[in-house]
Amino acid sequence: AGAKPLEGRTAIVTSGPTHEPIDPVRYIANRSSGRQGHAIAAALAKLGAKVTLVSGPVTIPDPAGVTTVHVETASEMLEAVTAQLPTDIAVMVAAVADWRVVSSADQKIKKQPGEAPAPLQLAENPDILKTVGHHARRPKLVIGFAAETQNVEANGRAKLERKGADMIVANDVSPETGVMGGNRNRVKIISAKGIDEWPDLAKDEVAGRLAALIASRLPN
Ligand code: C5P
Repeated sequence: AGAKPLEGRTAIVTSGPTHEPIDPVRYIANRSSGRQGHAIAAALAKLGAKVTLVSGPVTIPDPAGVTTVHVETASEMLEAVTAQLPTDIAVMVAAVADWRVVSSADQKIKKQPGEAPAPLQLAENPDILKTVGHHARRPKLVIGFAAETQNVEANGRAKLERKGADMIVANDVSPETGVMGGNRNRVKIISAKGIDEWPDLAKDEVAGRLAALIASRLPN
């Protein structure tokens, strides 16, 4: 008795948005606060895991008891994550931007009077979860999130397969739910075992429950 269930285990967690530069002063971003990812990193550490949190730009503090690496773009996040592999656990919570600007300008883009705005040329960003899920140094347990505004369950199931994940935490982030940027979350846990619906909980409670579930499902 007394031993923490994740003592001697390692974990990598991603959190927050990514920022994809357009020019030195502008970027593409999203409304992720980092609250859920940071809470999960803290909860895993509380159960004894050695946790590295790779965070995009957020305004919340680094969690205690966790090593936090700060990055800006999806490419930087991928590099910071793969540098940590292999770990026992990977939880990819970050709201990674799907696209980046192909070549961000070295100087601030100026508006040209009388001319139409220059179009932004976009390229697809690397998929960090998918890379980790299919990696030669794949963690023993790979968990992804699915932020959806419709067909939450079906999209979550499809994501399990495609991303090579063991578990998908699916949530409805429609504006009326207040999940994105808020303090509460209502999630469905999707795995090969089936689907488990959790009630509306504080993000800290979701994190605590998820850390306990991870401890129970983690292979030796
Ligand atoms: O495909 P979608 O973005 O909905 O998948 C969400 C899951 O994939 C989340 O766990 C997210 O952290 C991860 N993801 C990622 N890299 C991307 C896009 C999503 O790690 N470029």
